[in-house]
Amino acid sequence: MAVPATVTMLLIVAAVLPIVVIRTAEARAFFVFGDSLVDSGNNNYLATTARADSPPYGVDYPTRRPTGRFSNGLNIPDLISERIGQSEPPLPYLSPELTGRRLLNGANFASAGIGVLNDTGIQFINIIRMYQQLAYFQAYQRRIRGLIGAARAKRVVSGALVLITVGGNDFVNNYYLVPYSARSRQLALPDYVKYVISEYKKLLKILYKLGGKRVLVTGTGPLGCAPAERAMRGTNGGCSAELQRAAALFNPQLDEVLSELNREIGRDVFVGVNTAQMHNDFVTNPGAFGFATSKVACCGQGPYNGLGLCTPASNLCPNRNLYAFWDAFHPSEKANRIIVEQMFSGTAEYMKPMNLTTILQLDART
Ligand SMILES: *[C@@H]1O[C@H](CO)[C@@H](O)[C@H](O)[C@H]1NC(C)=O
Ligand SMILES: *[C@@H]1O[C@H](CO)[C@@H](O)[C@H](O)[C@H]1NC(C)=O
Repeated sequence: MAVPATVTMLLIVAAVLPIVVIRTAEARAFFVFGDSLVDSGNNNYLATTARADSPPYGVDYPTRRPTGRFSNGLNIPDLISERIGQSEPPLPYLSPELTGRRLLNGANFASAGIGVLNDTGIQFINIIRMYQQLAYFQAYQRRIRGLIGAARAKRVVSGALVLITVGGNDFVNNYYLVPYSARSRQLALPDYVKYVISEYKKLLKILYKLGGKRVLVTGTGPLGCAPAERAMRGTNGGCSAELQRAAALFNPQLDEVLSELNREIGRDVFVGVNTAQMHNDFVTNPGAFGFATSKVACCGQGPYNGLGLCTPASNLCPNRNLYAFWDAFHPSEKANRIIVEQMFSGTAEYMKPMNLTTILQLDART
């Protein structure tokens, strides 16, 4: 049966029009890179032990089911996505549901267990290391070019907000993973930090080359104060001095790299998020934030619930809002909310050179 030309034309217009309309009405895209602090479920699709897809993970998530997020409920990308007006958080890149116009919302490339260095997290076997996350970002861009054309695809990427959270595992799951680790025999801590930072700078440059124009870069939290480190390395439940020293070396050097890159580019592309200070606030004074404790994890076993994994057999606290730490390493949704609030309205001590409220205002004008 022959279809009249006018009908064909109408069909084409009808097929193209919705994308145009939706695009202009939509919030900016959001891309996420990094480790378990921001992984929203990529590892569910991989043969790895670094996963959060069984209960009680997700116990406070809207569906009350595990999703692969390392949280009792929402994680940091979810909360940022909500506040920039997205209708849903960017899906894990490996999710089969990430197709069609959902791609225009962005994507989450993060993978639990990874670090800046390729040799970080090797014990987790099959995880998406940083170079692979960046390769997937390129593949993603090819896919949206096919969907909306090159010019608009470029605008989706350049207009997007980007978040990268990586580095903690280069200490916890590499240098300090075992006594006399290969890296710790090879390099003294200050030299190792310098090396990690120089490799991180390469990753950030690639991210910028691939089109990232607003990139939130989080430092590492107070690594030594996570319940796992208090249990394994702290004395009398104090924070682990070595890991605190690592974070204290790492964070200022990362800040310096971000300033250097911004100077080279001539624009404030990279925004430093002082997660160490944000965490320190509630680690040192949990009561002021409504927490009963910042030392004991809600889910786990052993001292501070800091040993082993959070599983159905673990201790589970009844009220997650009273705990700064959900499991031995990861903040609770409540703690994530405090961190994201600081990202949006923190002073220059927390957000350098400016907070997200200011960024959104600036970007709305251009
Ligand atoms: C890490 O791996 C990527 C790709 O697999 C490679 O291009 C890069 O040079 C590696 N980095 C180091 C320091 O070996
Ligand atoms: C950060 O955000 C708030 C809005 O919540 C704003 O009032 C504040 O001045 C901003 N900047 C700094 C440097 O504090």
